[in-house]
Amino acid sequence: MPPQAGESPSYEATYSAWHEHRQSWWRMAAAAIDWSVPPTRMFDPSIGPFGAWFPDGRLNTCHNCLDRHVAAGAGARTALIWDSPVSGQLRHFTYAELRDRVAKFAGGLASLGVGHGDRVVIYMPMVPEAAIAMLACARLGAIHSVVFGGVAAPELAARIEDAQPRLIVSASCGIEPGRLVAYKPLLDHALALSAHQPASCVILQRPMLAAEMTAGRDHDFAALEAASAPVPCVDVPATDPLYILYTSGTTGKPKGIVRDNGGHAVALRNSISMIYGLKPGEVMWTASDVGWVVGHSYIVYAPLLAGLTSVMYEGKPVGTPDAGAFWRVIAQHKVRVLFTAPTALRAIKQQDPAGSHIAEHDISSLDALFLAGERCDPPTATWIADLLGTPVIDHWWQTETGWAITANFRGLGLVPNKPGSGGRPCPGHDLQVLDDHGAIQPAGTQGHLSIRLPLPPGCAPTLWNNDAGYSRAYLEDFPGWYRTGDGGMIDAEGDVWVMGRTDDIINVAGHRLSTGSMEEVLAGHADIAECAVIGVHDEIKGQAPLGLVVLKSGVTRSHDLIVKELITLMRDSIGPVAALRQVCIVTRLPKTRSGKILRASLRRLADGQAPNPPATIEDPRVLEEIADLLSRR
Ligand code: COA
Ligand code: AMP
Repeated sequence: MPPQAGESPSYEATYSAWHEHRQSWWRMAAAAIDWSVPPTRMFDPSIGPFGAWFPDGRLNTCHNCLDRHVAAGAGARTALIWDSPVSGQLRHFTYAELRDRVAKFAGGLASLGVGHGDRVVIYMPMVPEAAIAMLACARLGAIHSVVFGGVAAPELAARIEDAQPRLIVSASCGIEPGRLVAYKPLLDHALALSAHQPASCVILQRPMLAAEMTAGRDHDFAALEAASAPVPCVDVPATDPLYILYTSGTTGKPKGIVRDNGGHAVALRNSISMIYGLKPGEVMWTASDVGWVVGHSYIVYAPLLAGLTSVMYEGKPVGTPDAGAFWRVIAQHKVRVLFTAPTALRAIKQQDPAGSHIAEHDISSLDALFLAGERCDPPTATWIADLLGTPVIDHWWQTETGWAITANFRGLGLVPNKPGSGGRPCPGHDLQVLDDHGAIQPAGTQGHLSIRLPLPPGCAPTLWNNDAGYSRAYLEDFPGWYRTGDGGMIDAEGDVWVMGRTDDIINVAGHRLSTGSMEEVLAGHADIAECAVIGVHDEIKGQAPLGLVVLKSGVTRSHDLIVKELITLMRDSIGPVAALRQVCIVTRLPKTRSGKILRASLRRLADGQAPNPPATIEDPRVLEEIADLLSRR
């Protein structure tokens, strides 16, 4: 059974308890959640692509995050600390204050027609109103879809068209170091591109930039909240979607990952004690963005479900104001567990390799550092572990899973840590390595990391309006398994080594990007005949995209100018976060005799491996030319 208060069973005992008694294990975990109708059945395999958890349960996620803690007498405990060095603001919200603001804002949304099952797109910077809007949707049983601020208008438009929101919540601006990002013109541009129009937009006016409002459609966030009466939580089926989060797939069309209410609440609440080992009232800081799954799960939902204090940080690891920012936040708010991406540590390491800023702050509250978003390279893991003297825990997960697939377990007595490994499978996951034919591989053999169905609670049950797409993307290659898209191996002691994607997804500064979508953008330029985008090693960001383009015959324009246009096109189409800075004009791309571009060989080449082209390669010299070009970069 899952660990109970006061107990600390071992990892091995907990994993085997789950393995032997899967449904009763999750029944016990479900007991930590307040249900309006407790589930009598744990899992129904007949619903959706692989089944649904807690099919006859009913609950409200916002009630579990806020109202239940207030009702239990913890209303005066701090729920959220908003620390914003970029705006010079710091605010604390108790559970009671946050509940009251959420209940009123939910009333405002309801007055604009938002109800159970309606979608609400939230396009906001790292402000507390983003969390308030998410929780207000959950309160009403509406489905939020948060879009990360660093995407361009066409990407936002694609998400609006797919989610068909009744309402959009946004802000006048975000703040990036050295510049304001005007969100409202981006939103207006996206709406001009979108075939779907929401009935209303609610705009948070930030003091540093006022947004122009469209009469009849746009409402002021603060005025709406102030004028509205609080509304109670709406009870919903456990299987109802809580949110949709779009992420990169292998095509240009983003995938709408669906998260249900019941499985999500159970899994995330359980993860706080089992993985992060935190107790109510302790402080967790997840230095990510609410636009990413890590932000959904560990800035907003899991800490609040567990009655913790969550820190929301509007700033960067460096430059706001310096490479000591993380240590300042830890000291000021007595952070017990920090969760961030390895890229943030590499950015700090570059500016402060000796970690001299650490000594300027009392970070004795810190007990563990958790990392995710990409594999933490062993030099960075060792560097930070030596400086902090706390466990540094790399844990592997995906937007689809919503919580960790593998980890080390602060709540179960840590197993010895190996820098570069993602730890052991979390109870709930039967993880195996499969070969190309779906056969389970022995310890130490590389292959496709795959999870035996059913996936545990909290993992996406489907894609928005697209069961078939879910099955195609994750279930069809290896029947009976969820294919993670990551390659790696499990060693003889059971530690998992996640070595990289087996598809065209790359990871740039912890942001997941599809090279397929980037190729679609480059191919849209009038002078480009064909192209490939690959992820090449980058010291800080882990990977950086590199475009290889072949010009149409007869193009005589300046190559420098074309490259500049391509970089601007990428920024305007996908967003600054795509961070395409390098484009090489080449005379040809490596292909099979039937004309297929050898992307897998290019990927291997970019990773510094042998390209292993298939026997059907048209001309092996092309790969040699590109290898030469990469080595001269
Ligand atoms: N809104 C608007 N623009 C944004 C943005 C946002 N929310 N987030 C990033 N951008 C912009 C940046 O300003 C930058 O623009 P520029 O090209 O004009 O400079 C561009 O997108 C690329 O940003 P990024 O890849 O983040 O690079 P960076 O050099 O600004 O910062 C790091 C590098 C490592 C400091 C930063 O990427 C970081 O903190 N990463 C952690 C990522 C993370 O938490 N991921 C979640 C998984 S756990
Ligand atoms: P995202 O859906 O944006 O969270 O990205 C998920 C992908 O990031 C995974 O499929 C992995 O490729 C990579 N990833 C995330 N965390 C880790 C980790 N701890 N170790 C290795 N890869 C990781």
